[in-house]
Amino acid sequence: MAKVLVIGSGGREHALVWRLKQSPSVTEVFCAPGNGGIAQDATCITLKSPDDIVHFCKENAIGLVVIGPEQPLVDGLANRLEQEKIPVFGTSAAAAKLEGSKGFMKSICKKYNIVTADYGFFAHAGEAKTFLQGKSYPIVIKADGLAAGKGVIIAQSKQEAEDTIDAMFSGQFGDSGKSIVIEEFMEGPEVSLFALCDGNNATLFGYAQDHKRAFDGDKGPNTGGMGTYAPPPVMSDEVAMQVMRDIVQPTMDGMKKEGTPFKGVLFAGLMLTKQGPKLLEYNVRFGDPETQVLMARFSGDLYKVLLDCSKGTLNSKDITFHKDAAVCVVMAANGYPDTYKKNTIIRGLEKAAQVEGAKVFHAGTEKRGSDIVAVGGRVLGVTALGGNIAEAKARAYKAVDCIDWPEGFCRRDIAWQALKAAS
Ligand code: AMP
Ligand code: GLY
Repeated sequence: MAKVLVIGSGGREHALVWRLKQSPSVTEVFCAPGNGGIAQDATCITLKSPDDIVHFCKENAIGLVVIGPEQPLVDGLANRLEQEKIPVFGTSAAAAKLEGSKGFMKSICKKYNIVTADYGFFAHAGEAKTFLQGKSYPIVIKADGLAAGKGVIIAQSKQEAEDTIDAMFSGQFGDSGKSIVIEEFMEGPEVSLFALCDGNNATLFGYAQDHKRAFDGDKGPNTGGMGTYAPPPVMSDEVAMQVMRDIVQPTMDGMKKEGTPFKGVLFAGLMLTKQGPKLLEYNVRFGDPETQVLMARFSGDLYKVLLDCSKGTLNSKDITFHKDAAVCVVMAANGYPDTYKKNTIIRGLEKAAQVEGAKVFHAGTEKRGSDIVAVGGRVLGVTALGGNIAEAKARAYKAVDCIDWPEGFCRRDIAWQALKAAS
């Protein structure tokens, strides 16, 4: 029997907490810092530093720490916990560079023959501009470091590319733009693929399609993700296994050879091009809102699987899913991803929870007295299972319609690609 601590406060962490709580050997789930909805499924606590986390784990005999976001991984929280002999799901700082530095990720791809866009890596504006000679447009310019999803610019012309290079090197993206990657523009549908990794082997943990733009019809600004569905018909299990063989496992083997084995979840952002699947980016964490649909569909013992990853003993037979499809609709505060109002009251959550197959995951919420209030940009992930995507979608929107929150909005067309493909 074990107690588990989840680090993070988003919809991703709520989905992880909810599924961990259902593991037969888990007696209690803690979450630091958590949110208003997580508080209904776990004990939320404030832990301000790695020292606080270590202290808490020792005092409470925590059997597994699950690290949600990338920043603590990049900062070395998993290393620290391993040193303290506290089991941890999440990779080392050295392996987290697969997400923390796009230049590092591209160099691993080049060295181990992993299919991704052709690129150049630059530490000075002059060299970067020289590289543009003779290139075709659009071209893609990326800040090397973490930039909260805002570090990628698709430049339509040489002028725009040069202006972007100047902006990145002049500090517009902070330290993340001290060096940059320039890469070939690729076209095709995007899929998020997840693999659980135990340092040696990687096992497919499903795939989903996200909707990055704020508004219906894939219009409006880029966001962290406005909704997901799984499984997306645009990718078959066969293609997913091909990605595991040609992209994910060679990355695992490469990282091991480099002396920095990868343990945790590897999130491959893929583009399904006419020439086949190509790697756009790696993240070293679960996706948000992809995790909401993955967890709705996962039918195994999550605690066992994540613990086995940390011990290097992952067994692919433990990774099982319901046949049902899942859809997650994100409800965000009006104005997101730009400025938005906080502290607005959300009503109707109990009614939404009663919709068949539905579960409302919370992201930016806080419980104040008996009220749930919105305190973030992305606020709820209304998720539902159904016999197929159409049914899951209908249930998710039925639950959305129970929620009384005039200060929030959502897209109405989540999963449109799947439904278009089926019609
Ligand atoms: P990344 O953070 O690297 O995934 O990039 C964010 C988004 O920019 C991706 O989800 C794609 O939509 C787009 N993108 C990134 N790289 C490319 C590329 N080489 N070609 C076309 N679009 C890209
Ligand atoms: N939904 C995309 C991400 O988590 O990065």
